[in-house]
Amino acid sequence: MSQLNHWNPVALSSALGTKPLGIKLSGHEIVLFRSADGSPGAIDDSCVHRRMRLSCGTVERGCLVCPYHGWKFHADGYAESPGTPRMRGRTESYDVREAQGLLWLKPRDCEAEFPRFKEDDFHALGAMHHVAEAPLEVTLDNFSEVEHTPMTHKLFGYDLNRMAEVTCDVTTDHDTAHCRTVGPHKPIDAWIRGVMGVGKNVEFVDEWDTYYSPVHMVIDHSLRDVDTGKPGRIQYRVHVFFTEIDEKQTNVFTVLHVKSHFPGPKQGMRIIGPWIKRFASNEIEYDCQMLKRLADTSPDLIGLKLSRFDKLLHINRERIQRIYRGIDLPPMRTSLLGDAVTQNRQDHVH
Ligand code: FES
Ligand SMILES: [Fe+2]
Repeated sequence: MSQLNHWNPVALSSALGTKPLGIKLSGHEIVLFRSADGSPGAIDDSCVHRRMRLSCGTVERGCLVCPYHGWKFHADGYAESPGTPRMRGRTESYDVREAQGLLWLKPRDCEAEFPRFKEDDFHALGAMHHVAEAPLEVTLDNFSEVEHTPMTHKLFGYDLNRMAEVTCDVTTDHDTAHCRTVGPHKPIDAWIRGVMGVGKNVEFVDEWDTYYSPVHMVIDHSLRDVDTGKPGRIQYRVHVFFTEIDEKQTNVFTVLHVKSHFPGPKQGMRIIGPWIKRFASNEIEYDCQMLKRLADTSPDLIGLKLSRFDKLLHINRERIQRIYRGIDLPPMRTSLLGDAVTQNRQDHVH
């Protein structure tokens, strides 16, 4: 399946202990387990003997043991039967990596590059996992526009009454998309203004790049006090990965990095770090809760009244089809996606 042909984040590292962990990736069931040295392995979640779910089994001395008749599986996919000792089998196995607090996998014969992390002088605050009850495209739609931020989000976002002032600039190249939005922030509680070191008149800058192998965004959030011209004390960056579970659900894995201008060791990160992580997790949960309420989660855009903030929706679909799913759209289908795809070929969209 071509949509597996990426380094796909599939679970938090902390979710895989001594027991096997079954996951679903684009409808494909895979089981992860740790070998004797603790390194993670992944094989198809179906026993070669009589198709028992191996994720229901146990791990013994680094081998995954099928709960039905006890076949033993190694991380390279080779297996042996205890009842018929000379009988051997082999199932599909995957390359697995553990990085940034996540477990990643790709098919063995796939040459995909591991995603690059833009860390600069930011502090890593770890990874988070949320599940959106919506297809990949629709989940990415939510993260690809800022028009929802006044309503959906509690602590950050634009002022609904001044949305008309928010600028939204999209630029693209053949394989990526970039967006920068700037405008008045909604009213912020006094204590948060104190922590951030900004007054009441605040500008919010939201800037991101979207990549499609695997599907992910690198988002920078920052505030600026309009009266003093000073930036907020805390700036954060999230790498958000969207991994298709199946046609109706999407895993959202977020790796959080923060930069602060507080004095003291690690820029006060020991105190504010956990708070920022909880805040970020809550805000992503609000996105997921909102997606749950959609009357129709079809990725189809035809007939929708899309706004100036929705330019990326068409672009994302074309890239997901071509880069993530490896499907070249015939010209007629491309035209159905609307004007944005055509404009996109000119490499700049306003
Ligand atoms: S089904 Fe797995 S050992 Fe029989
Ligand atoms: Fe959001």
